[in-house]
Amino acid sequence: VLKVAVAGCQGRMGQALIYALKEAQITLAAGSVRKASAKGQDIGKLLNLPALFVNAVTDLSEVIDDFDVLIDFTTPSATLLHLALCRQHQKKMVIGTTGLNQQQQALVQSASQDIALVFSPNMSIGVNVCLGLLQKTAKVLGESDIEIIEAHHRQKQDAPSGTALKMAECIKSAATTAKVGFSSLRVGDTPGEHTVLFACQGERVEISHRAFDRQIFAKGAILAAKWLTDKAPGFYTMQEVIGL
Ligand SMILES: NC(=O)c1ccc[n+]([C@@H]2O[C@H](COP(=O)([O-])OP(=O)(O)OC[C@H]3O[C@@H](n4cnc5c(N)ncnc54)[C@H](OP(=O)(O)O)[C@@H]3O)[C@@H](O)[C@H]2O)c1
Repeated sequence: VLKVAVAGCQGRMGQALIYALKEAQITLAAGSVRKASAKGQDIGKLLNLPALFVNAVTDLSEVIDDFDVLIDFTTPSATLLHLALCRQHQKKMVIGTTGLNQQQQALVQSASQDIALVFSPNMSIGVNVCLGLLQKTAKVLGESDIEIIEAHHRQKQDAPSGTALKMAECIKSAATTAKVGFSSLRVGDTPGEHTVLFACQGERVEISHRAFDRQIFAKGAILAAKWLTDKAPGFYTMQEVIGL
């Protein structure tokens, strides 16, 4: 049986994950919150759901023996604390947190020598299909004017989004001299929209993805957690999880 823990259960993605686990009939094995006032409370009740009979902890080390894989969509600093803990105790991780700087990303890479982890700024299947399309397009249109326009809800902390940065990385992997511009909108409640423009003389290619519901990210993360079950230590991406 897959024993999954969720970090940051009260966050937007934490809540989406708890819901998606229930839909997938996977039992939540453990969960953390940041606020001390929520500590010890049933996670289901905290989220106005039926009881899940799992009490929230503020420190995952208290429940380290209860889970095999941690799904973490929190903040860079919290993710790094969880990473050290999971590395120490040989627990797998699915990391969706964005906004990690280069040094923090290097720590994730280094931990993957000891544990299997999936690290991806976007766990949706559609966005990962787009990443493949971007590589193909950039091979031919790498010298065109390339702009990534993205929109997210007003609370989003990082800009450009992790997905936009990943899109640029894919374009540059196919066309090393490509120059990529970014525009970020932080408006309303949109879970995430990305459009990549390849503007040429007389024509323009646009590759767009729109997320209408953050459940797509939660479902992708759960797919990644299942996929990790038989994986040796290593750094894996969502593209590998979905076999692209
Ligand atoms: N990879 C993907 O597919 C994908 C999709 C969507 C979002 N994201 C990323 O996922 C991250 C979270 O997004 P969100 O919209 O869910 O943000 P959010 O609503 O702010 O949720 C973050 C949660 O983490 C909690 N937290 C912070 N430090 C913690 C700690 N030490 N222990 C336990 N919980 C802690 C916060 O608690 P408090 O509320 O008490 O502060 C908050 O509930 C962001 O980096 C976002 O960009 C990734």
